[in-house]
Amino acid sequence: MMFISRRFAFARRLLFVHAIGFVLFASAISIVSSTPPPESPQREADIEKRINELLARMTLEEKLGQLQILDGEANGNFRPEHRDLIRKGLLSSTLNVRGARRVNELQRIAMTESRLKIPVLFGFDVIHGYRTIFPVPLGEASSWDTAAVERGASVAAAESAAAGVRWTFAPMVDIARDPRWGRIVEGAGEDPYLGAAMARARVLGFQGADYSQPEKIVACAKHWVAYGAAEGGRDYNTTDVSEDTLREIYFPPFKAAVDAGVGTFMSAFNDLNGVPTSANPFTLTDVLRGEWKFDGFVVSDYESVRELIKHGIAADEREAARAALTAGVDMEMVSRTYNQNAAWLLKEGKLTQREIDEAVRRILRIKFRLGLFEKPYADEARESRVILSAENIAAARQVAGRSLVLLKNEREALPLAKSVRSIAVVGPLADDNKALLGSWAGDGRVEDTVTLLTGIKAKVSPQTKIFYAKGVAIEGRGVTGNYDATPDGNNAGGTNTVQSPETARSATSAVAGNGIEEAVRVAREADVAVIAVGETAEMSGEASSRTSLDLPGRQLDLVKAIKATGKPVIVVLMNGRPLTINWLAENADAILETWFAGTQGGNAIADALFGDINPGGKLPVTFPRSVGQIPIYYNHKNTGRPPVDPANKYSSKYLDMPVTPLYPFGYGLSYTQFRLSNLQLSQPRIRLDGSLNISVDVENTGKRAGDEVVQLYIRQMAASVTRPVKQLEGFQRIVLRPGERRRLSFTLTSKNLGFYNRRLRFVVEPGMFQVFAGTNSADERGLEARFEVVEK
Ligand code: BGC
Repeated sequence: MMFISRRFAFARRLLFVHAIGFVLFASAISIVSSTPPPESPQREADIEKRINELLARMTLEEKLGQLQILDGEANGNFRPEHRDLIRKGLLSSTLNVRGARRVNELQRIAMTESRLKIPVLFGFDVIHGYRTIFPVPLGEASSWDTAAVERGASVAAAESAAAGVRWTFAPMVDIARDPRWGRIVEGAGEDPYLGAAMARARVLGFQGADYSQPEKIVACAKHWVAYGAAEGGRDYNTTDVSEDTLREIYFPPFKAAVDAGVGTFMSAFNDLNGVPTSANPFTLTDVLRGEWKFDGFVVSDYESVRELIKHGIAADEREAARAALTAGVDMEMVSRTYNQNAAWLLKEGKLTQREIDEAVRRILRIKFRLGLFEKPYADEARESRVILSAENIAAARQVAGRSLVLLKNEREALPLAKSVRSIAVVGPLADDNKALLGSWAGDGRVEDTVTLLTGIKAKVSPQTKIFYAKGVAIEGRGVTGNYDATPDGNNAGGTNTVQSPETARSATSAVAGNGIEEAVRVAREADVAVIAVGETAEMSGEASSRTSLDLPGRQLDLVKAIKATGKPVIVVLMNGRPLTINWLAENADAILETWFAGTQGGNAIADALFGDINPGGKLPVTFPRSVGQIPIYYNHKNTGRPPVDPANKYSSKYLDMPVTPLYPFGYGLSYTQFRLSNLQLSQPRIRLDGSLNISVDVENTGKRAGDEVVQLYIRQMAASVTRPVKQLEGFQRIVLRPGERRRLSFTLTSKNLGFYNRRLRFVVEPGMFQVFAGTNSADERGLEARFEVVEK
């Protein structure tokens, strides 16, 4: 795919990043691993031989033990009863047990006291860092920088492996078109092409070219599949998705993970078209094994096998075990229906020995590929050297910097001068070291984390006065939006919550005394106010869906009160999902979207606020004006009555709000300006199997060095099935000096032009195509050209 080859070009270009700092990193990134090598046939043959030998010696009980993963965490240690299970060869894997010493203690039992000496596989949710925490995945995806994302995953892998954890339940590659869904924070957003690029980068970062290397771990593509399509954005909810949409939208990042060599998959919680994904033979066997030739193993999600009973597809645990195992789930997480029922199912002829052996084989294959039989132990001395090393911390700062998205910058409110006389640093998240870690923060610790206030203090000159006030607190997990009843309608779309002001207020509070007054007082004394608002880490992630996307609690009141002082208002957003921030978009002087930026978040954000780096990230997901617009995504179909003419009464629109988003997919500003020009196609016409070169000039027309992400979108005008109005098929993030101009080149082939036809075959059809080059998916200054695909 196109983003691969360009990564190397990008790594070279990155050397120019020196202009804006981080010399160390540019060179570090250029040595990040490349494509996975073909597994050596000899090594693979040896592995299969050893699996056969083991299988021949295993009892049924031991085989079933290999199909079980249990949660090992018990108050910072492993569960004592797991020693016994491991000694008897009845526990394949644990989740959450970590730390070299602890892991080795259990592993020693497996390797010295169990009959067959099959090593335990230690798994953990290393989602965006192990101890050194990188930005949440949605934030990392905002970098549109696959090398940076790969680097983040490779640091996570090194720390995790050093702590004895050789299996991560990541990357989460679920496409999410609904920001109410809390788990949108764990993925790469709404787009299959960007999602595939990020999936690939993360798998390569975790696994490298060979995950038996001591610094590497085996990855797990999750949650297979369409979990992000949960109805109403409510976690675990039903999904009903056509096969066409599965193949066009939800499958591609998983396929990219398979192509990158991912070792494991996790089946999901959701009911998919009537067949839960943890018992779905179509997705687990026909597509994954049949079409894609995946030969690793599938683990269920936490208790998702037993949950088949609640779904109503199994009457009891026996039926649940049978449904999941025969559909293609090899390892059962936490529930124990396989262990307790497989022998009976076998006896009754409801399960075959072959089915059990096949699942065991896949699991052993990954343990062999990891080299666990040869090197089962973690190096206890290495752990403390690797974890939170200076190099890893610097990497976290660098990647966090690349994930920042500048949403607004009126009259160059940013960057701030380091010599500024005084700053008010305000807001509930300004000195919060927990929120920055985001959800699924591995072994991340608040005490390692640099808050925004600390980052700013470290940045400004000693003469600068810094006044801090929290203003309001965000209390509780499900705080509904601030009920804003301003009659001027400025916040239209940000106010569609049914919660009364009283309820909202009781769920949050101004901090001791009158927090807002205090914040206003400090703002009055300062030259500029930097206000950190958004969500707490607990407001997104698993089981953390929200019906409102407004700023929770009284945060908007706080920003409004400060705006009323007349001081410049710089809003720093920290959040795990798109928010409805219409009032901010209209009234703030600048808005920097920082997501949850990780251990080094405060430093990275300060780097951007004061111009040591120039933000160049772009939104990987659409920001709606209102939850009422959801689902809203850029690559939608056109309808027969597109809402282009506002005067047309009968067009596909809303009466009370535009159909357009607040910020489109791919959007993000810079402290400098860029101009695209001279879009050219190598030829006006190509054959069905031909390829086309597209080139475009990009010029930095401003006064600072900066990054632009040039995005290439296509649209087929007419085909046998309807096509999206736009679909991303290429992007390049580049850095340009002031006045510098570069010509970028993209290639389109049948992979980009094809789609699934009515018979669900992937085809390229003749016809006219539009091509757009722009700096976001709705770029009015973008360029457009056409070409034709012809039969011959
Ligand atoms: C989540 C998974 C996670 C697993 C293990 C589940 O609740 O859905 O994403 O990997 O727990 O922690």
